[in-house]
Amino acid sequence: MKKDLIIHEAPKSPVSEAIRTLRTSITYKMTKTHDKVFLITSSSIEEGKSWVVSNLAIAFTQSKQKVLIIDADLRKGRQANIFSLNSSYGFSNALDNSKISNDNNSLDEEIQKAIFKTQIDNLFIMPSGMFPSKPSELLENEQFDIILENLKDKFDIILLDAPPINIVTDSMILCNKADSVIIVCAIGKTKRDSLVETKKKIKNMGGNILGVVINKMPIDKLKEYTKDYTKYNNNKIIKIENPKLKNIS
Ligand SMILES: Nc1ncnc2c1ncn2[C@@H]1O[C@H](COP(=O)(O)OP(=O)(O)OP(=O)(O)O)[C@@H](O)[C@H]1O
Ligand SMILES: [Mg+2]
Repeated sequence: MKKDLIIHEAPKSPVSEAIRTLRTSITYKMTKTHDKVFLITSSSIEEGKSWVVSNLAIAFTQSKQKVLIIDADLRKGRQANIFSLNSSYGFSNALDNSKISNDNNSLDEEIQKAIFKTQIDNLFIMPSGMFPSKPSELLENEQFDIILENLKDKFDIILLDAPPINIVTDSMILCNKADSVIIVCAIGKTKRDSLVETKKKIKNMGGNILGVVINKMPIDKLKEYTKDYTKYNNNKIIKIENPKLKNIS
């Protein structure tokens, strides 16, 4: 397994504690909304979407949840790599080949073939699969909704790892497939305008924004940032540490 999985490799570190706090914030929301499918996206590249997805997924397994990661980045998905999975089969293949219907409650062979058990108990992953020539078109396939409905019965929580929203259209297609959308932004990298644009795009597509994860925040700057955000948000933030979920809706 890769060094990305800090919550597995160093469960007592402050960052792992922050990820658990993020899990708690999301769980708190889940008990109210019964949301199960979360899309994790960001404005731009390399803000930490895949990192947050993989660590958060492990955090949920540690609280006895059965978790599925779907790598919905059909252009450069790296979840298979993070979990050292050697498979070129995955989500894109399931979308292309699955023929399940609404009234069939069992996973068809194509979907089963695309889901892999990881070394972490209760954590399953559907890697991105073969990178298709037309990812956006594939994501529009109506099989997607049926597959997702079907998977909801089999897992406690499903995390969709998405591409950046301001770079390709894929995440816009994806954002109303999930019950809730979580935006990741990276301190010192994400531009304010870009975040505003992201929020607008998600809302326009009917996506339900749960909050923003402030990622890559230096631990020693934590107090300062928390004070700032509290000041500007009327104490409405969900007070957690790095990476932290901030309510913007
Ligand atoms: N909180 C963090 N602490 C340490 N390293 C991090 C953190 N978040 C992300 N990274 C690192 O930053 C790099 C980019 O992260 P990641 O691949 O998760 O970004 P991404 O938003 O999914 O990128 P892309 O837009 O290419 O899909 C990776 O090397 C990852 O290990
Ligand atoms: Mg990624």
